[in-house]
Amino acid sequence: MQADIAKQLKRGQLSEAAARSQAARLSPTLAFADLARCATLGEAVTLPLRLTPSPHPYPSSPPLARCEMVVEAVFESLAVKRQIFAQLEAICPASTLLCTNTSALDIDQIAAAAPSRPHMVMGMHFFSPANVMRLVENVRAARTAPAVVAAVTLVALRLGKTPVLVGNCPGFVGNRMLAPYGVEAESLVTVDGVPPRAVDEALSLGLGMAMGPLAVGDLAGLEIGQAPRKAQGLYDPDRHFVDLLNAKGRIGQKSGSGWYRYDAAVGGGRQPLPDPEVGALLRAHRARNGLSAPYAPRAEGGGGVAPPAADELVERCLLPLVNEGLRCLHEGIARTPADVDVVWILGYGFPAWRGGPMHWAEAQLGLPYVLRRMREIGASRPELGAAFARRWEPSPLLLAAVEGRTSLAETLARLRAGTRAAPSKL
Ligand SMILES: NC(=O)c1ccc[n+]([C@@H]2O[C@H](COP(=O)([O-])OP(=O)(O)OC[C@H]3O[C@@H](n4cnc5c(N)ncnc54)[C@H](O)[C@@H]3O)[C@@H](O)[C@H]2O)c1
Repeated sequence: MQADIAKQLKRGQLSEAAARSQAARLSPTLAFADLARCATLGEAVTLPLRLTPSPHPYPSSPPLARCEMVVEAVFESLAVKRQIFAQLEAICPASTLLCTNTSALDIDQIAAAAPSRPHMVMGMHFFSPANVMRLVENVRAARTAPAVVAAVTLVALRLGKTPVLVGNCPGFVGNRMLAPYGVEAESLVTVDGVPPRAVDEALSLGLGMAMGPLAVGDLAGLEIGQAPRKAQGLYDPDRHFVDLLNAKGRIGQKSGSGWYRYDAAVGGGRQPLPDPEVGALLRAHRARNGLSAPYAPRAEGGGGVAPPAADELVERCLLPLVNEGLRCLHEGIARTPADVDVVWILGYGFPAWRGGPMHWAEAQLGLPYVLRRMREIGASRPELGAAFARRWEPSPLLLAAVEGRTSLAETLARLRAGTRAAPSKL
């Protein structure tokens, strides 16, 4: 946090006075006991908390009397987070809210490590850099109390953030929708042979995303998600190209290479530059996996066909993302299409003027068109097998909206009132 403040000061994004005042409010420490020095949240935040605290399970340990809330942000590991929550359970008073900044883990399992107060546990998924990005996904777990949802919402608002309440599932709303988007972008390059820059430019220059998906991967770091892949036995550099990039130490901007290469002398080392070495790695990867890559240059072992138009690349990457958003709505993980849109505009650089992915799909493309394209694309590559077709299966909400000729909001209301959609978990 101190490094971020210094960086913003250097770039002229913060005045000296603001930087000093922000730094003065931080009290870094490595000792849990120092949590007692935390400032109070104030009446505006604590007011809605009308909970009867359960008796403290460890009466002999000195409670951290002034600590009203903890936001845990340690490694993305369920085991480490559960260990921290067990420690917090032991030292914080029963009235302390315990939040986790996990990006994708099961918050119910984290809450189970604080057995006296699962009702006081909630996800608070800030976006990086947390001092700049406005979005916070506030994640309600199965046993989070309504008063805790209200208090955590107020905390986010007092921090100047825009909280969106979402349900607990792997990746919540934003990262869950990001996954199929990344899979399609990667598949366009590795399987179809579209150059990385063509994919990124279709999404950035064509649609208006702040950055293309592959450049975003390089910015965030391609090592993100590798630990869980290894833990689940999925890591395989021979079959998965991002695993191969990792194995080669190409983890993005911070290592000077990823999908692209970076040169400290060009754009401060942050400008993606085409890298012939990626072409060579792709060629070897395709040969190993028997991929014909029609759109790859012949020099990379491809068919040399001109890549599809930008509109088609946009559909290939974004329709599965839209479909996953519709699944979140159908399952009650997101409350409204507008909530999904806010997540993607404020958290992932979706162009605000397009209204977000749900609005784009419904008002600009039209849901019947989205359904038709999902089916056409899903049926277009039988050689890629059932896994490809599964990625393009339309969500039940899309089918119901097109069948009923009703808007997403009306369809959801109808399904939630009946039994054909999970009631909102929020
Ligand atoms: N980096 C992002 O873009 C981003 C965005 C949103 C959410 N998150 C989430 O924030 C969390 C942290 O991610 P990060 O990227 O900052 O990771 P990081 O590896 O940069 O930092 C994790 C920190 O946790 C500390 N830590 C690890 N084990 C600990 C323990 N037992 N006790 C105390 N501290 C411990 C480490 O020393 C390190 O400083 C993760 O849950 C991640 O999913 C990260």
